[in-house]
Amino acid sequence: MYQKLKNCVNIIRKKTDFKPKTAIVLGSGLGGYAHKLRVEAEVSYREIEGFPVSTVAGHEGKFLFGYIKDRPVVMMQGRVHYYEGYDMIDVVLPIRLMGMLGADTIFLTNAAGGINRDFTPGDLMLITDHIPSFVPSPLRGANIDELGTRFPDMSRVYDEELCEKVRVEAKKQDILLREGVYVQAQGPNYETPAEIRMFGTLGADAVGMSTACEAIAARHMGMRVCGISCITNMASGILDQPLDHQEVQRVADTVKEKFENLVTEII
Ligand code: HPA
Repeated sequence: MYQKLKNCVNIIRKKTDFKPKTAIVLGSGLGGYAHKLRVEAEVSYREIEGFPVSTVAGHEGKFLFGYIKDRPVVMMQGRVHYYEGYDMIDVVLPIRLMGMLGADTIFLTNAAGGINRDFTPGDLMLITDHIPSFVPSPLRGANIDELGTRFPDMSRVYDEELCEKVRVEAKKQDILLREGVYVQAQGPNYETPAEIRMFGTLGADAVGMSTACEAIAARHMGMRVCGISCITNMASGILDQPLDHQEVQRVADTVKEKFENLVTEII
């Protein structure tokens, strides 16, 4: 895997020598944020041999390199999900790649279902911790010693200093910021009401199909992690209505501006 990662880095380096400081992963419906970037270079996932390419409509697949104000960033427009059939080690390959390209901080965003009944669709939730126990660890298998240690600490995955910056900025922008624990489910099916009751009992506030595995891979290599969920719907069984992917995208669309302004200032 380390060899594969180095090959991917070499392919990207043939196209651009841009050195990002911050990595950003844009979740479902949030891909529009790319227009905020002063783009210096683009590399489509398809151009990178061995790179997992997303199959979900609305997840355009490319790395964008450029500036948010004067901050050099790399942005993943579209991510791959475990439910697409990739092994976890491939799902987190792009995260590791962005770290190897120079990013020491990563912002992970996603669409998530609200389990906490205080939440309302359209809310933004700062991720303070996560439950990744329902998907395999991306670190399973031989450890990549070049990236990090065999048994990395996970007692503070989401960087406290970055969390505080998000809180301060949200307040400044008059954004009601929720906080909570994100649980990663396998998908692609949405959860059953019984599963959501279980997740709630276990201490989860929001559920999604990404992010926790990415945060683990990023922490393994020592990156500082920050995560924000867009609560696009109440999780299964909380309201008396079925869940619908179109609705998830529609709600993500309505909070776009609020979300984009927050992310820009935090970066
Ligand atoms: N469950 C899982 N993933 C999601 C949801 C949900 O309710 N909403 C958006 N992504």
